[in-house]
Amino acid sequence: MSTPQLRPELVNGHTSAAESHTQLHGMQEGVMGLIRTSLEAKEFAYCPYSKFRVGAALMTRDGKVFTGCNVENACYNLGVCAERNAISKAVSEGYRDFKAIAIASDLSDQFISPCGGCRQFMREFGASWDVYMSKPDGSYVETTVEALLPQSFGPEDLQMKKVNSIPNEF
Ligand code: THU
Repeated sequence: MSTPQLRPELVNGHTSAAESHTQLHGMQEGVMGLIRTSLEAKEFAYCPYSKFRVGAALMTRDGKVFTGCNVENACYNLGVCAERNAISKAVSEGYRDFKAIAIASDLSDQFISPCGGCRQFMREFGASWDVYMSKPDGSYVETTVEALLPQSFGPEDLQMKKVNSIPNEF
């Protein structure tokens, strides 16, 4: 089987005419494009153990797109989800401000829903951004990090004044 190709001009931090085309033609087309990119990213999934392919496409506030797929390991617990790989790629290249993430899997009868760990990983970079959970036919459900992880714990919570003595009753 030949190795699938991502469109390098569209993803992983590259700016291009095609990208500004996506921005110019409105959100609906932007969402569809992001979902299509997540479906393409899924083709790279390395999942010999679960055989469950996942792809993700993350859009930054300034319109750059980073992709990710799940990458499993013979030491099972070292496997990494598609969403986390996409976010880590963006963060490691200096992007922390996200507009949306699209997620794709091979499940045709349900929209792929991010695992709890990935929800927390997304939330690190804010709760008010969009998550598109898709099916292979490109249909999707739109939600937000906040809706997926209500009453969450995040970096702001670490700024709270810390109690530095243990109350007597304990
Ligand atoms: N997986 C993801 O990559 N993202 C999700 O949101 C759900 C699960 C991966 C992890 C593992 O490689 C495989 O799917 C089966 O759980």
